[in-house]
Amino acid sequence: MSLRLSYTLIAPFYDAFLEAATRGARRQSLGRLAEAAPLDALINGVGTGLDLPHLPPQHRYAGLDLTRAMLDKALPRAAGLDFRAVQGDAQRLPFADASFDAVVLHLILAVVPEPARCLQESARVLRRGGTMLVFDKFLKPGERAVWKRALNPLSRRLATRLDVVFEEVLAAVPALAVESNEPALAGGWFRLIRLKKG
Ligand SMILES: C[S@@+](CC[C@H](N)C(=O)[O-])C[C@H]1O[C@@H](n2cnc3c(N)ncnc32)[C@H](O)[C@@H]1O
Repeated sequence: MSLRLSYTLIAPFYDAFLEAATRGARRQSLGRLAEAAPLDALINGVGTGLDLPHLPPQHRYAGLDLTRAMLDKALPRAAGLDFRAVQGDAQRLPFADASFDAVVLHLILAVVPEPARCLQESARVLRRGGTMLVFDKFLKPGERAVWKRALNPLSRRLATRLDVVFEEVLAAVPALAVESNEPALAGGWFRLIRLKKG
């Protein structure tokens, strides 16, 4: 099954499982944008738009997702925001180089088949000095994670990878530097990471 099909099937139930559990982490991550002067921000893999209620109104937003059913759920949440929905692939972004001042990567890097490609593309469309806000589940370097790795061949086809090591993905994009990296949920399996493009 393709990820587009599985997320089309998941779309009606997604918020019931994820909204409450992730609200605090989203607020913390996106708080970074609150005081900033107006800028262009990409919400990469915007999904049903659970980030949108936490976005301040002064910026211009593009929300990209592979799955029409997820974007359709996101659009009502964009009321009051300068927001355009774009259907596309996070690994081949349909934007010019240096189009954005900020890129939000919440629960997308560990979902796509090629996380390094997704991070490279996100860095390509980010301006120098721009910020990337990551919230996702990552293994630590060298972590055995026997059950997660055993489930991964099925899980990666249905919804998400369970075997992504952030440090390995980051190594593919030398232009990005880590500003902060802290545990968020589930004993640090989920992390909040802030990156800057040099
Ligand atoms: C776990 S959801 C996360 C949604 C949202 N970012 C959030 O934090 O709730 C993963 C999203 O990635 C989208 N997706 C999967 N593969 C993608 C790809 N190659 N390009 C863009 N979006 C993709 C799915 O349609 C889904 O909306």
